[in-house]
Amino acid sequence: MNPAADTRAGAAFSLENEAAYQDWRSAKLAQFPKTLSELVVEVRDPRRLSAGEKQALLERCARANMAVYASACANDPDKDIPRQLGLQFGLRDLDTNYLADDDGISPLSVAERGTRGEFIPYTNRGIRWHTDGYYNPGERTVRSVLLHCVERAESGGENDLLDHEIAYIQLRDRDPQHVRALMAPDAMTVPARIEDGRIERQEQTGPVFSVDANACLHMRYTARSVSIAWKQDAATRAALAALDDILGTTSPWMFRGRLEPGMGLLGNNVLHTRTPFTDAPERRRLIYRARYYQRVGAG
Ligand SMILES: [Fe+2]
Repeated sequence: MNPAADTRAGAAFSLENEAAYQDWRSAKLAQFPKTLSELVVEVRDPRRLSAGEKQALLERCARANMAVYASACANDPDKDIPRQLGLQFGLRDLDTNYLADDDGISPLSVAERGTRGEFIPYTNRGIRWHTDGYYNPGERTVRSVLLHCVERAESGGENDLLDHEIAYIQLRDRDPQHVRALMAPDAMTVPARIEDGRIERQEQTGPVFSVDANACLHMRYTARSVSIAWKQDAATRAALAALDDILGTTSPWMFRGRLEPGMGLLGNNVLHTRTPFTDAPERRRLIYRARYYQRVGAG
């Protein structure tokens, strides 16, 4: 059974329906991958997947909200590789930001100078746990993310990964009140981004966990402590402390891996980190990142 497609999935995320939650939880944990290698699918050409390759990637996304493909496209900087891969999963609407190239696919590499260098993704620094686009307004919710590796760094640049549905389970199992606090519509506020006296991005207030019209769980989160204002009450503080503890503790549900050239991570915007990295002249990390408003395979 695919938990995400289960018609009871929406009910499973309601605190009022413990039976639906327990059913969904059991099914989810029973089929969750035990190792990162279970998520990897060898593909011949990401631009033109075979039916079997596509099915294998969809099946992993259904189980763990993510899948990894490995291809022979190493060092090929063709942006059509991630673009065409995404289209085969119904991923059409790219979230663009003013730092992305015009086509909405961001080349993540160490920026020499300029605006990009001010943003951590364009440096070689580590990035703490987050989901992508947590600062976006609701109408631009980032439901899936594709990372395609053209070149890896000489060392470092790994990602920790945690399915946000697992984080939800871990929190709810500790105390359902943590989930209640993080589903509050005023749990998290990202202040407006102001540059040169101009508002580049409006203030955004919203929940951490939400359930969309298709009964799918979405998560907005960052472990950063700057440019974020949490609701100041005991329940929110307790929930955040529990989440911080969960994310800071290695568990069988958490994976760490590094994308090698030609590999990519396709997922429904799961929690992730990035470790610091060091480039060398012949190994300069380049990852294409595409953020979409659709979930993998929903369209
Ligand atoms: Fe990210």
